[in-house]
Amino acid sequence: MDVGAGSGILSLLALAVGAKHVIAIEREEVVHFTRAVLARMPAAEKRITVIEGDFFSVGKSGANAQMVVSELIGYMGFEEDIAMVMAQARRIAMAARLVLVPRSIRLSLIPIAFAGDLVATTPRLSLEPLRPLYARPTVATMPYVLGETDFVRHNLRWEYSVEVAQRVDAVAIVCESQLGEESMVSNRISTDWPRCVFPLSEGIEVPGGAVLGIDLELIRGKDEYEGTLSLALNGGTRNQHEWRASDIAGIAREGGSVDEVVQSVTSLLQELGVLGRLSSLI
Ligand SMILES: C[S@@+](CC[C@H](N)C(=O)[O-])C[C@H]1O[C@@H](n2cnc3c(N)ncnc32)[C@H](O)[C@@H]1O
Repeated sequence: MDVGAGSGILSLLALAVGAKHVIAIEREEVVHFTRAVLARMPAAEKRITVIEGDFFSVGKSGANAQMVVSELIGYMGFEEDIAMVMAQARRIAMAARLVLVPRSIRLSLIPIAFAGDLVATTPRLSLEPLRPLYARPTVATMPYVLGETDFVRHNLRWEYSVEVAQRVDAVAIVCESQLGEESMVSNRISTDWPRCVFPLSEGIEVPGGAVLGIDLELIRGKDEYEGTLSLALNGGTRNQHEWRASDIAGIAREGGSVDEVVQSVTSLLQELGVLGRLSSLI
């Protein structure tokens, strides 16, 4: 089951690596691109059932799934509701050993002291345009885990305090998501620093051993995270294929043509070396 299928790229990759059948669930209009992409790949189309609707209403159609994949991680790990989606997938799937990808998510905070004077000042919790600020960030301490879930045990703490031993000019929020045994994605390595570093409007001198409370306004509201930090996606050293997949989702969302989307998905699959395998499925 692919929750939030978008262009269908993860469903196609799942088939390419051996899935027998995929239930692809997508609630937004982008679903017509999913269908259009599949219409051009008849062998794959036979093995992907596209379901339009919200996962929380139609998810039961994936009750026989043995594996659930979902890219609802967002820049901050939790703002696209991955934790709730995966927990729900666990509840409805009947497989004794259900595999979840990602299998866990962790959000951490890293207090940062900048070396030398700041080259610009900026409002708190605002990100752009800040690149010069991060020219040489100095990590002040090890990450403090703010929230972690394996989608069984929820441990999401939104209020916390951290112990730091020096100046704090900014904090980085780092999201790490474990995909499989060895594979991990993180906004620390796959996203530009400016995407996850939040400068404090004034640096704080913290004597050794003091406890510093930081309010980051990540508050879980009734339907969504209120005050979620807003991040723009561009640049950085993210894996080029990840970028391409999000670009394709972007084309679809912003009213691009079906041909453009089909062309982009096909060429990405070709670059990944799986297009041949998909065409030879019977
Ligand atoms: C970040 S995109 C990922 C698209 C694609 N899987 C990829 O990796 O490129 C997330 C997609 O999930 C869909 N989505 C989010 N929440 C959903 C839900 N509760 N039910 C169904 N689709 C959902 C969004 O409409 C969006 O198309």
